[in-house]
Amino acid sequence: MFSTRTNKPFLLIPLLLLPSAHAIVSIYQTPQQSILSAERVASSAAAAGTPIPYKGLPAYNTTGLQAPPPPEAGSFPTQVTLQLADAPMLNVSIPQKSSFFGFSIEMSVVNQVLGSNASVLQVPFLNLMANLQQRTGRIDIRVGGNTQETATLVDSLDDGRIIEKDHALATNPTGTPPLRFTPELLYMLRNISEHVNIRWHLGVPFNDTSNFRLQIAEQGQAILGDYLIGLQVGNEPDLYVSHNHRPPDYGPEDYFHEFGSLIQAMIADEDKLTPRPKTLLLGPSIQFNWTAEEVWNTGFIDAYTDNLAFLSVERYPNDNCAVAFPNDPGQTFHDPQKSLNQYLSHGATSGALQLYANSTSIAVQKGKPFLMFETNTASCGGFSGISDAFAGALWGVDWGMKLASMNFSGALFHVGGQSVSYNPFTPPPSNESTFHQWSVGPIYYSALVVGEAMGTSNTSQVLDLQNSAAAVFAPSFTPLADQFAAYGIWENGHLARILYINFVTDASGAHDVNVTMNLDQPILQGSVQVKYLQAPTVAQKGNYTWAGQTFGGNFQSDGRPVGTENIQSITCTSPTQCTVKIPAPAAALVFLSPTGGQDATQKGAPQTTFATTAITKFRNTATVDPLVLSTSNGRSGALGVGSTSPEGTKNSGPVVRVGFTMVIGGVLIGAIFLIIA
Ligand SMILES: *[C@@H]1O[C@H](CO)[C@@H](O)[C@H](O)[C@H]1NC(C)=O
Ligand SMILES: *[C@@H]1O[C@H](CO)[C@@H](O)[C@H](O)[C@H]1NC(C)=O
Ligand SMILES: *[C@@H]1O[C@H](CO)[C@@H](O)[C@H](O)[C@H]1NC(C)=O
Ligand SMILES: *[C@@H]1O[C@H](CO)[C@@H](O)[C@H](O)[C@H]1NC(C)=O
Ligand SMILES: *[C@@H]1O[C@H](CO)[C@@H](O)[C@H](O)[C@H]1NC(C)=O
Ligand SMILES: *[C@@H]1O[C@H](CO)[C@@H](O)[C@H](O)[C@H]1NC(C)=O
Ligand SMILES: *[C@@H]1O[C@H](CO)[C@@H](O)[C@H](O)[C@H]1NC(C)=O
Ligand SMILES: *[C@@H]1O[C@H](CO)[C@@H](O)[C@H](O)[C@H]1NC(C)=O
Ligand SMILES: *[C@@H]1O[C@H](CO)[C@@H](O)[C@H](O)[C@H]1NC(C)=O
Ligand SMILES: *[C@@H]1O[C@H](CO)[C@@H](O)[C@H](O)[C@H]1NC(C)=O
Ligand SMILES: *[C@@H]1O[C@H](CO)[C@@H](O)[C@H](O)[C@H]1NC(C)=O
Ligand SMILES: *[C@@H]1O[C@H](CO)[C@@H](O)[C@H](O)[C@H]1NC(C)=O
Repeated sequence: MFSTRTNKPFLLIPLLLLPSAHAIVSIYQTPQQSILSAERVASSAAAAGTPIPYKGLPAYNTTGLQAPPPPEAGSFPTQVTLQLADAPMLNVSIPQKSSFFGFSIEMSVVNQVLGSNASVLQVPFLNLMANLQQRTGRIDIRVGGNTQETATLVDSLDDGRIIEKDHALATNPTGTPPLRFTPELLYMLRNISEHVNIRWHLGVPFNDTSNFRLQIAEQGQAILGDYLIGLQVGNEPDLYVSHNHRPPDYGPEDYFHEFGSLIQAMIADEDKLTPRPKTLLLGPSIQFNWTAEEVWNTGFIDAYTDNLAFLSVERYPNDNCAVAFPNDPGQTFHDPQKSLNQYLSHGATSGALQLYANSTSIAVQKGKPFLMFETNTASCGGFSGISDAFAGALWGVDWGMKLASMNFSGALFHVGGQSVSYNPFTPPPSNESTFHQWSVGPIYYSALVVGEAMGTSNTSQVLDLQNSAAAVFAPSFTPLADQFAAYGIWENGHLARILYINFVTDASGAHDVNVTMNLDQPILQGSVQVKYLQAPTVAQKGNYTWAGQTFGGNFQSDGRPVGTENIQSITCTSPTQCTVKIPAPAAALVFLSPTGGQDATQKGAPQTTFATTAITKFRNTATVDPLVLSTSNGRSGALGVGSTSPEGTKNSGPVVRVGFTMVIGGVLIGAIFLIIA
């Protein structure tokens, strides 16, 4: 029950008087959160025609890389035959939860991404999550990151803020100033969960293990209740030494003991804490400076089995740290153009994750879910041209599915600020939020695809067909090409869906792959349904489509997909054989049966959308040319309130009760004239 909040009146009364079916918006005044400062180029200059180097915030960089040339003829099979069984095949994964693909949101940017406070939520965020909820029923999100370690919960902050960086205390050598936040942040998470079924992981500050600050656990449990699912204990402890957070001899044993100290502190605090939080702990959340085995060898899992809700690691397959920290001589420069191939290779993904195979097998034996707790294309902000291009979307699908096939139990893709390239979704800079919308990145599309691949049943078992000796016959036993991936998904014990990825870019069609699926049982019903994730090249930024729907380019999305969903029906040769084309490049999700398993056309839950800034702007700015608005929104003719269907499952009734004030409307009009002038 959400009844703990008694001391704080809500300032929503006038807003609640607005007609509740529309007039819904969040307006945003947050301090710029850019970690890497970047000079922003006026948008008029960018439109002037001559290509000028992009100097703005990395999250909105439109300069791209070159798609690699296609592989030579003969080295890339375009006719593939798979032999598949209706019953789960050898080496198939454990049953995966629908919420496998989730997000990790850097704590310092929650007031950009989630909302200003518990009453002003970011509507595009809610829409983006509602799209996923429709497909999966639930989304798991971690709020934390490096900034959680020194965060302190305080009663209140100036100007009603819910979070602030204490620059006066910026002694942290990574340049991350300590955060202070108020319980309002936790109420905001709770209110979000009232609208969309999001479950939250939080982190206990771990900078001072002799004097734990447990308030986030106390208040987190009190405010979030069952919506709190995990408490991280230490973020990347294997990097503490190099960040000067621990003495030079700090190692896995020390982490083991500190973990134990935290449990003792939680037991001592049980009056305030209640018993549940100490059963939600997760660790060790290492990158790869220690091996996971070094941590297991301390006895970690058995010693803390009653407290460990999850085991966790964090991993980015590459880094852009030389660019992010140019003054750090220890960093190696990775050329983005050369690095691109790594993200278009199933072998590279499998290889990078192989070091966890032993650990996931230990986790399965011990009955502990094993999480990839923070991941994305590349650490230190990602690579522009990869992390924010179609290559990133295909990589995200492959990385997510590979993790599922390896018996990970979840993967949380990181969301940073406007200084990073890899965001699944990015709000506009706060001073432009009245006329710009959100930018939806490639990883969000990965989430949609993996979400639908998993479905809602919590029974999906995944097999990497590339690695399955039993599955591949092309035409005799041959592994699939490195730039091609295939996964089988069994649901309730039957083959339900197959996911393919073609990483090659070739508009000529010469590298499109025809996959023939041979089934051991006559389960095909005349046709299969296929949804494609597509863009013309792997280098394209924005305008990707998933089953024909898109979120446009930078600043174009209110979080709702635009366009009509386009599901291809492919006629099969027989009840045991079907051939599907996978264009270069694309991912394709093949639904074997419209009725068995999950229906391609009828997703898990009814679509819930939240009326948006666009609608409110439209209603509040009658003097502004509607064309300008519809362009900035990336859609035309779809602004009607009637297109929303608020009758969701748990989201029924009037949603986010936030409105536009006249003052804000005035700012809006001014801002729009500024842009069109
Ligand atoms: C928003 O702020 C950025 C950085 O402070 C600045 O470069 C940009 O011009 C501002 N945009 C507007 C529309 O004022
Ligand atoms: C924008 O992306 C291009 C191509 O990837 C890169 O060379 C450039 O440094 C990026 N600029 C910024 C400000 O991120
Ligand atoms: C995942 O776990 C299942 C059940 O223990 C096992 O059969 C399978 O081989 C494992 N898969 C991998 C890739 O380790
Ligand atoms: C929430 O944030 C909005 C926008 O910043 C502000 O107008 C409002 O006063 C805040 N509400 C509370 C309860 O602090
Ligand atoms: C947030 O939660 C409080 C307490 O339940 C509620 O009064 C308020 O209306 C909620 N705000 C929103 C925006 O839903
Ligand atoms: C831990 O972080 C808090 C909050 O930033 C700070 O007050 C404290 O001094 C830090 N403790 C250590 C041991 O670094
Ligand atoms: C890796 O761990 C060792 C030993 O704990 C430490 O000396 C080194 O600084 C760490 N490297 C990084 C990059 O954190
Ligand atoms: C797997 O990890 C366990 C525990 O650390 C270790 O004893 C074992 O040698 C490892 N096995 C392999 C194949 O790495
Ligand atoms: C899937 O698991 C979640 C808990 O992780 C649960 O809330 C949900 O009801 C389950 N769905 C089904 C269809 O059993
Ligand atoms: C199952 O996995 C094991 C270990 O990775 C492998 O040796 C074996 O070939 C796999 N079996 C099949 C049928 O793919
Ligand atoms: C793939 O199949 C389609 C239709 O089934 C056919 O038109 C096309 O030629 C095939 N492509 C290749 C490379 O064989
Ligand atoms: C995306 O689509 C919009 C609208 O069709 C178009 O204006 C824009 O140029 C496209 N961007 C790219 C990168 O194709």
